[in-house]
Amino acid sequence: MIFKGTSVLIAAGALAGMVHAHGDVAPQAVDTTGLPVTGDEWLTENPYRAEVAGEEVWLKAVEIGASGYNQNCARCHGLEVVSGGLAPDLRMLEAEEYGDEWYIERFREGYTQNGTTKMPAFGELLGQDAAWAIRTYIETRPDSEAMEAASNELKALRDELAGYATDASGADAEALKARLTEIAGGIETLSGAPIADSVAFRAANLIDGTPGAYKSAAETLTVGLSAAQ
Ligand code: HEC
Repeated sequence: MIFKGTSVLIAAGALAGMVHAHGDVAPQAVDTTGLPVTGDEWLTENPYRAEVAGEEVWLKAVEIGASGYNQNCARCHGLEVVSGGLAPDLRMLEAEEYGDEWYIERFREGYTQNGTTKMPAFGELLGQDAAWAIRTYIETRPDSEAMEAASNELKALRDELAGYATDASGADAEALKARLTEIAGGIETLSGAPIADSVAFRAANLIDGTPGAYKSAAETLTVGLSAAQ
């Protein structure tokens, strides 16, 4: 038993070693449960966009893609897809077939220069569903400068919402939702994707007039505003 287990470990170690060669972490599998299955043939255009797959699939793809991105891409391409200079900023990659083709080629093949792996290949290990979920997350990142410009007003709204978490009697749910939606509309993507998944967008979608929803919306804004610092 011990020997058998050891050889399996060695085999796994040898595989992982290819990626670990310069201190990198092995790719982490992404759970894509809940997304339509894309199949064996690699597509050249993102199938999870809202205009193709509907808003529910799109939201699910953003959520799954966020986790897949953070585990596999963030250490080189930056948290929230804001590059720190180690690797290109992926937010600018056009959200259309031209950008998708480039994206999926890099995702599948990685990038090697003079025998050194600058980016590992993810295609075989993570598969196509994870690839497009991550793509959906990347292309819906909000422009951080626009977020920054809206941050004072969002902070004030956050405080107002936090107050309604205990007593919602003076709250005008429709007006709050409308204002957040308006702010969200002014925070665009850099990829050209029609909707930016900003905290303003998320908070607007949460509000339903109940104290619990005001609480979640206030928390969403708090997390997003501190991440933007
Ligand atoms: C070990 C670091 C590393 C990791 C991890 C990594 N990348 Fe990269 N990536 C790079 C580097 C370096 C480049 C630039 C290669 C080049 O010069 O074309 C790059 C380029 C790209 C490009 C082309 C960008 C452009 O503007 O040309 C895409 C798309 C991409 N990566 C996606 C991803 C995705 C998605 C993940 C996670 C699944 C990921 N990368 C993980 C280092 C990494």
